[in-house]
Amino acid sequence: MLTSDLLIRAVELLRRGGVIALPTETVYGLAANAEDELAVRRVFAIKGRPATHPLIVHVAEAQALSSWARHVPEDAWRLAEAFWPGPLTLVLPRSPRATDAVTGGQDTVALRVPHHPLARAVLEALGGGVAAPSANRFGRVSPTTAEHVRADLGADVDLVLDGGPCTVGVESTIVDLSQGEPAVLRPGGLAVEELSRVLGRPVPVRVSSTVRVSGSLASHYAPRAGVVLAEPSEAAARVESLRARGQRVGVLGPPGLALPPGIPRYDVPEEPSAAARVLYTRLREADEQGHDVLVACLPRAEGLGLAVRDRLNRAAAPRTPGE
Ligand code: TXA
Ligand code: MG
Repeated sequence: MLTSDLLIRAVELLRRGGVIALPTETVYGLAANAEDELAVRRVFAIKGRPATHPLIVHVAEAQALSSWARHVPEDAWRLAEAFWPGPLTLVLPRSPRATDAVTGGQDTVALRVPHHPLARAVLEALGGGVAAPSANRFGRVSPTTAEHVRADLGADVDLVLDGGPCTVGVESTIVDLSQGEPAVLRPGGLAVEELSRVLGRPVPVRVSSTVRVSGSLASHYAPRAGVVLAEPSEAAARVESLRARGQRVGVLGPPGLALPPGIPRYDVPEEPSAAARVLYTRLREADEQGHDVLVACLPRAEGLGLAVRDRLNRAAAPRTPGE
């Protein structure tokens, strides 16, 4: 089918209450018309996500902020101007257009203008907002290819739009602008240093598991294997002690990392944005090999390294039943 036919079909499905997988530059989203309550409920059902966890509304352009938010502070316009379309989500006081189904009953709404050409084309043709969480089952690794989506959600979605591998590879950076001073709720595909540069002051990172941000639950983004974190210099020792205990071990780490013979390594480069781009794919590849434990090397805590460390920390967190 021609891309333009697929686009028309995608938009028709969204207009008729369908749920489709939509590529963005960060991860693939599970998309529904944000103003169709039944369609939004289906997204929650497919994902297996609690209905109180709010979704991001994706829009075609920054101007739409005025219709989805009842107040747009100057800082929001500045960030939108600098980084949209792109991997940034802004949390603002909601207008009546953002329903309880999307916001989980909160008084705020999360908004983003994605950069991926297919996402933009769909949003422009639809002319409204698309509510889309990452297109994975709740608590699991986010999809960065159409293949990942098909493997996870298969027949549950009405259409999977294939836009190739995601170029950023981790979810958007979420900035809360609803409480006065901006704060980062989830480090992601836009470096926090960039936010601070544009606003001319440091933007604090306030990740807390008390807000209803699924990505901020202690255990999230988790593969089936256990995950153990290590600085690159201590990875080999970690592997030895796990192997001595009879564990089948794999390693996520940079090329050139010295490892005991026979231990598979899944290449996650040292450079933070390169690491972000491949992180979820490597987690999935490693998981397919049936390891008991993955030893994951942490990138440095700068740029997108903050997001990679955050996701690895959550993948390594103790798991609660059902996740
Ligand atoms: O890059 C992304 O952000 C991807 C792509 C598809 O756009 N989407 C994504 O959605 O990661 P999701 O639902 O997996 O994560 C969005 C996060 C959730 O943790 C949700 O709780 C939080 O955004 N969120 C949504 N609305 C919020 C609000 N009003 N206040 C605080 N957090 C909110
Ligand atoms: Mg998610």
